[in-house]
Amino acid sequence: QRWAEEKAKETPESAAVLEAAEALRTSDIPVGFPTETVYGLGADATRSGSVQGIYKAKKRPSDNPLIVHVDSIEMVNRLLNPNGSLNTKIPAIYEPLISRFWPGALTILLPNPKDSLLAKEVTANLPTFGVRMPWSAFARLLIHVADRPLAAPSANASTKPSPTTAQHVYHDLQGRIDLILDGGPCGVGVESTVVDGLSDPPAILRPGGIGIEEIKACPGWENVQVGYHDSALQSKEAPRAPGMKYRHYSPKARVVLFEAGSDLGLVAGRVKQELLSKQSGEGLSARRIGIVRTKTWPLAIQLASDAETSSQTQETSTHNDDTLSIRQITTSIEDIPTMIYDISLGSSAESIARGLFAALRSLDAENVDAIYIEGIRDDEGDLSAAVMNRLRKAAEVFIAV
Ligand code: TXA
Ligand code: MG
Repeated sequence: QRWAEEKAKETPESAAVLEAAEALRTSDIPVGFPTETVYGLGADATRSGSVQGIYKAKKRPSDNPLIVHVDSIEMVNRLLNPNGSLNTKIPAIYEPLISRFWPGALTILLPNPKDSLLAKEVTANLPTFGVRMPWSAFARLLIHVADRPLAAPSANASTKPSPTTAQHVYHDLQGRIDLILDGGPCGVGVESTVVDGLSDPPAILRPGGIGIEEIKACPGWENVQVGYHDSALQSKEAPRAPGMKYRHYSPKARVVLFEAGSDLGLVAGRVKQELLSKQSGEGLSARRIGIVRTKTWPLAIQLASDAETSSQTQETSTHNDDTLSIRQITTSIEDIPTMIYDISLGSSAESIARGLFAALRSLDAENVDAIYIEGIRDDEGDLSAAVMNRLRKAAEVFIAV
């Protein structure tokens, strides 16, 4: 063991994993770490003080159950059988899911035993706990070396978009945590799908990185119910009633979400209204808006000129951050300098999911006043349901067709 530890210190990555694992075992300050979905803020799930540290760092009330991350089926069995026996097995309904999707972006609910090893803060007093084995080898190595199940919500400040790079975690939590393992950008970009196989019929409690069609293809899951709801709105335009429901995944900017299929003329009209709403002399020296395109919207500048503003493009530049490229259009509309930031997330649900949170964060960093987003259909059975679920939670204004 000692030799292995000495040996492991020889690469910076493994020295970092050892340090993080040690912190997880001994300290009550959580650790930022990469998973394939989003970055997690991890704590030893067996110690109350450690789990409370997560809530302190996120400045979030401890009313939500947390997902427990494991490195192996063995660790799940230990959680199901705290007395060391193997009497309680993982319910058979989960077998096809586990064999197909673990390690990966799927969280399952299991019964929490009476003498549970898990700190009570993990389950929020529910009779069940949610558990997943992340695909990220970095995450599994960390869990393995710490030799503890890790409770881990996303590593963002409460209400902000989930973090998909180590820089996002640093931005939100600097000064409140000591250590972030940087494993590069997350490949999936939205959180895991949460399923409940203990109910009959089984249910999907949160759409995420594994699509419903993939789940329905598993024996016993053909009739899986959708146990969450997010409002695809009926009315043409619906501002969220202030204070009615607190926003989630939200940047500082006002998010205006157009449901899939919204007429381009309508979109252009709204962009125009936005651009012309701010008069000069209102304090800000320039108007700044962001446009996030997915499947069909043309370049932002085309939207803006379709809006028949007397815009004159002066300059276009592009810069790349870790995950995306942002086109910056500097123009002047009715003599007011205007910046339009244009991001295309691509047209597949996978690429949209991967770039979504980074896009919201990048536009926030540009201090835009509003972000106009092109929604996608959420009924394709893939990651599109997760994408639209997160966007509807982030949006302040919905525009439906
Ligand atoms: O992808 C992910 O799942 C990320 C990364 C870091 O792994 N983690 C994550 O964890 O999103 P967290 O703790 O924020 O997810 C908590 C959500 C709850 O809001 C609830 O939807 C569900 O997981 N959940 C957890 N335990 C549950 C339980 N016992 N019963 C019902 N839902 C539960
Ligand atoms: Mg979260």
